[in-house]
Amino acid sequence: MAPSKVRVGVLGAGAWAQFAHLPGFARDPRCELVAIADPVVERAQEFATQFGIPHVYGSHEELIARADIDLVDVCTPSATHFDLSWAALEAGKHVLCEKPVAFDFRDTQRAAAFARERGLKTKLGFTFRYAPAMRYMKELIDAGYIGTPFIFNGYEQNSQWLDPQNPLRQVDHTADQSVLQVSSLEGYGAPIMDLGHHFVGARFREVVGTMRNFIPERMVRATGTMMRMNIDDGDVFIGEFTNGAIGSIQTSFVTVGNYPGLEARVYGSKGALICRLVEENGICESLKGATADQVEFRELDIPAHHYPPGGTREESWRSLFYANLIRSFISEIRGEVAGNEGNFDDGAHVQELINAVEQSYRARRWVSLPLPVRPA
Ligand SMILES: NC(=O)c1ccc[n+]([C@@H]2O[C@H](COP(=O)([O-])OP(=O)(O)OC[C@H]3O[C@@H](n4cnc5c(N)ncnc54)[C@H](O)[C@@H]3O)[C@@H](O)[C@H]2O)c1
Repeated sequence: MAPSKVRVGVLGAGAWAQFAHLPGFARDPRCELVAIADPVVERAQEFATQFGIPHVYGSHEELIARADIDLVDVCTPSATHFDLSWAALEAGKHVLCEKPVAFDFRDTQRAAAFARERGLKTKLGFTFRYAPAMRYMKELIDAGYIGTPFIFNGYEQNSQWLDPQNPLRQVDHTADQSVLQVSSLEGYGAPIMDLGHHFVGARFREVVGTMRNFIPERMVRATGTMMRMNIDDGDVFIGEFTNGAIGSIQTSFVTVGNYPGLEARVYGSKGALICRLVEENGICESLKGATADQVEFRELDIPAHHYPPGGTREESWRSLFYANLIRSFISEIRGEVAGNEGNFDDGAHVQELINAVEQSYRARRWVSLPLPVRPA
């Protein structure tokens, strides 16, 4: 007998829920949207009407308390992710959480261990790992296309906040503005760091990096005013992987270019692959490959099985990539595929890397991983 549908409760009725998460769940017939909660209950109601969700709540407690929910989706402001994910795990639910689970990797590790102890599955919103072109790139790497990986170069950058009037969100506007705050390194860095681990098949063992604030004053959504915001809106680091490969990662909110603005390059002993996720001329992704005996890069066709039903590369990246993420998680929860990729353990590795690059910037030196765990 086929397993029953995965019943989903969504926390947060914001922009990302509307454009990525809810369309993804609505598109997969193996799950069912049961409830949505947001303190701004009118917005939750509006989304419930749009996506045919029967139950609406003004608080996450009421939603998490429902016995008939299997999966809680945390799509709320970043500072709330840890507490909401923990509460959902405590209630025995599988959890999809937007990145980051927590700002300190040790907290993400705790949440990962808690989920494991309870036999629950987790997934981070590492959207770009699920782009069809990135799926195919991973398939080719696993099949030996590049041979031994030598060098990884990753970028996540676009000009979303080049205009200081574009309201900044997910930042702490009460923080001490005399100290640079980690921002792009985390918000944009996490998915491309995850892809670095994924493609090289190893984690960084040592890193050195720098960050910069290019645009000093910005409109802040939470206050509705122009404020001095000493955030990192551009950063670069280099590092060595544990398997001998080397790499570089650059992220920025203020580099000219379109969304989402990822590029992952892997060069190895036999070949090289370059994947670009940038909406240009109505197409959101491309993959190019070259081999030692045919060094001119050529466009590779992405096989249909990497697309969600009805998906094409002319679709918006927001809904296309997230449909694949949700498809992957529903398959994992229903036991249709083995494993649990892009989970909180992977999130903890990425968070540890973010924390290490920040330390490197502040101390102006190389930093080794793993970072020490907090004294008991
Ligand atoms: N993975 C990606 O590519 C990607 C892209 C965009 C945003 N995001 C992330 O998604 C998250 C949401 O982003 P957004 O732009 O939709 O934010 P948003 O601020 O527009 O929406 C968040 C919503 O959560 C609600 N909320 C706050 N506390 C809540 C609680 N306890 N229970 C239920 N709802 C609560 C808010 O009222 C708001 O409506 C952020 O963490 C953001 O960084 C990820």
